[in-house]
Amino acid sequence: MRFGYFDDTKREYVITSPRTPLPWINYLGSEDFFTLCSNTAGGYSFYRDARLRRLTRYRYNNSPLDQEGFRFYIREDDIVWNPGWQPVQTELESYSCRHGLGYTVIEGSRGGVKASQEMLVPNKANCLLVRLSISNESGFAKKLSVFPYIEFCLWDAVDDSSNFQRNWSIGEVEIKGSAIYHKTEYRERRDHYAVFWADREPDAFDTSRDAFIGVYGSPARPEAVFGSGCTGSVAHGWQPIAAQQFDLELAAGESTSIVFGLGYIENSEDEKWEAPGVINKKKAEDLIAAYSCAGAFDRAMEELKASWADLLSHYIVGSGSEKLDRMVNIWNQYQCMVTFNMSRSASYFESGMGRGMGFRDSCQDLLGFVHMIPERARERILDIAATQFPDGSAYHQYQPLTKKGNLAVGSGFNDDPLWLIAGTDAYIRETGDWSILDENVPFDNDPSLAQPLSEHLRRSFRYTTEHLGPHGLPLIGRADWNDCLNLNCFSKHPGESFQITGPSEGPVAESVFIGGMYVKYGRAWADILKHTGLAAEAEAAESSISAVEAAVLDAGWDGEWFRRAYDAYGNVVGGSECEEGKIFIEPQGMCVMARVGAETGEAAKALESVKKMLDTKYGIVLLQPAYTKYHLELGEISSYPPGYKENAGIFCHNNPWIVCAETELGHGDRAFEVYARTAPAYIEDISEIHRTEPYVYSQMIAGSDAATFGEGKNSWLTGTAAWTFLSISQAILGVKPTLDGLMIDPCIPADVKGFTVTRKFRGAVYDITVENPDGVQKGIREVIVDGRRIEGNVLPVLESGSCTKVAVVMG
Ligand code: BGC
Ligand code: NOJ
Repeated sequence: MRFGYFDDTKREYVITSPRTPLPWINYLGSEDFFTLCSNTAGGYSFYRDARLRRLTRYRYNNSPLDQEGFRFYIREDDIVWNPGWQPVQTELESYSCRHGLGYTVIEGSRGGVKASQEMLVPNKANCLLVRLSISNESGFAKKLSVFPYIEFCLWDAVDDSSNFQRNWSIGEVEIKGSAIYHKTEYRERRDHYAVFWADREPDAFDTSRDAFIGVYGSPARPEAVFGSGCTGSVAHGWQPIAAQQFDLELAAGESTSIVFGLGYIENSEDEKWEAPGVINKKKAEDLIAAYSCAGAFDRAMEELKASWADLLSHYIVGSGSEKLDRMVNIWNQYQCMVTFNMSRSASYFESGMGRGMGFRDSCQDLLGFVHMIPERARERILDIAATQFPDGSAYHQYQPLTKKGNLAVGSGFNDDPLWLIAGTDAYIRETGDWSILDENVPFDNDPSLAQPLSEHLRRSFRYTTEHLGPHGLPLIGRADWNDCLNLNCFSKHPGESFQITGPSEGPVAESVFIGGMYVKYGRAWADILKHTGLAAEAEAAESSISAVEAAVLDAGWDGEWFRRAYDAYGNVVGGSECEEGKIFIEPQGMCVMARVGAETGEAAKALESVKKMLDTKYGIVLLQPAYTKYHLELGEISSYPPGYKENAGIFCHNNPWIVCAETELGHGDRAFEVYARTAPAYIEDISEIHRTEPYVYSQMIAGSDAATFGEGKNSWLTGTAAWTFLSISQAILGVKPTLDGLMIDPCIPADVKGFTVTRKFRGAVYDITVENPDGVQKGIREVIVDGRRIEGNVLPVLESGSCTKVAVVMG
């Protein structure tokens, strides 16, 4: 069942029922100010850090769900409704929510009144703008009252939801004209406040939740809206809010619009006050003035659309398939940008309070956005590298506001260092900017320890080289990509974090997966060394890589597939002798991507085993058989009920590894089959089963062992976005940046006759047409660049600004 449709020309998903299986959200903002916005206008706003600078409050496990947001109540006589249906839930006569790129438009109508709520964060501005337009389509004059409503958060979202003995006494506001200022804690250490405003004077307002909603009231029935209107309350402590009342008279056919804003303002220490106790409103007033002039909202919308059109112009496929084009050209790339902005911090599954920027997550996200924003990718790489420890290992996370490593999730995840090579390699291949390797970057954020980035990569590689276990495979440390494979943890007590309990290092537990990574990204490092003239070092690296490759094919090979690991007792994890967890997806994907066993047959066998043992109609599950009981020596993975999360869920992130692996072996039919199975647009029709947004990937879909097989969870912030984009754009469609130029090497289903790709690469535009006259799955017969046949399939780097036609014939 569907709850909407794709409008590809507008690059929107249009939701046609407010009762989606879960709130379906969108992200507004792309630099510092962000708003999460659901299809009923639920959500919240923050400045940069969703934990420390939260502007509006959100209660995740509220019931009913999704109560907080940027709401409008419309009252006509004794009927009250919201344009987005929530929270009053009065039936609407029409409803739609258009989630576009960086904006959302919600429209509802009732009793001849149409209300449209358009929301966006303008480029480069620290505010949310919301335009409410009301049209009287009834044929009679109408009197209406409109009430906007938001609830402020007292900045630190953790304190806000826990430290009530303090925070119920500290709330403060100021009111001036049509603006409500939230200034809690501004009196002492804070240099920032929030401002809510309207572009015209309201008839009344409230700033105390108790007054507007009622002490025992709820957003579904605010006392002020259902009673005699706003009371002019001034919040002192408790819960400060911003609510206003506009009494409107609309003649038949008349329309009116009000633009609202929610802004974040910082003042320097010497400019904090206008008078004792009165905040300096200068910057806020400038902001309000800028967006109160006629046309400002429309201009902000046009600028936003133009910047998205530009971002999405770097890779455009014309495949003849609507679903594929909309995934590749719009939604997959959009999700990659959102993961760039948010890492894993704020979604409807990530509270914004817990996780900072993951070291591995951020490096992998790069793979999906580096082609759109190479300069920001560069900066990101340097930020990440600056948190690395001098021995090459890494904090697992760093804080976005300070950019410093934090120990909340510890360190010692032994895959982390190699992802830095993966991210940097992708950056150099995309940009040809070798100078990044010479940038001086601190270790552990200590400038006195700064070394060129190349030295960081060297130490990443060396860390694995020097941390091999009894079988010559890399030691796993706390865990590898699979955070839940905690082989040195042995946690027995509830409440202990699997991520930081136990020693970070064990001298025995090894990871075949990191073995595959070491081969893949170690070779990338060796190529970089060769390109920078360090042939001897490259050769030494290659010989360490060959040794690990041999270990993967020996101790890491089970006969029909790659094993997963060895535990702290030296027992096999993910092998045929295991009762549960015989086969895992990750080493099959990573080792075959690294081409381990590609020439000798193991790679093909491993992928056949995946198909035989892990395939389901909704995607490939992470392992089989699922763990049915807790294994102390394996950790969190076996703590999950069968079929969920890492315990045999369909972890969408590593499905594209199988896609890439299949293309290494030339299996275009199978690669595309795996791709399409989890791609959101392809499963739109089962939205009632899948439940999460049909325009973005979820981290996990419940596997075949689960009672809710097919149900998605944790949508939006997942490495799935980057990896699926890589798998479709580079592995299947085959347009791959290399150190020397743009390689064309598609691996497609045999019945695909051809496609086009427009690719902006290092400043030049390549208009690529691929034809497949013989119905092959892989192989290039000829490549013609501007009418001239070239040797091989790597397009030369062309002059920036030039536009070149490339004709490719497969065969
Ligand atoms: C989840 C993992 C996640 C980890 C992060 C675990 O509970 O299952 O997917 O990476 O937490 O802290
Ligand atoms: C989610 C984490 O963000 C990611 O880093 C990890 O690899 C997966 N979970 C698998 O555990």
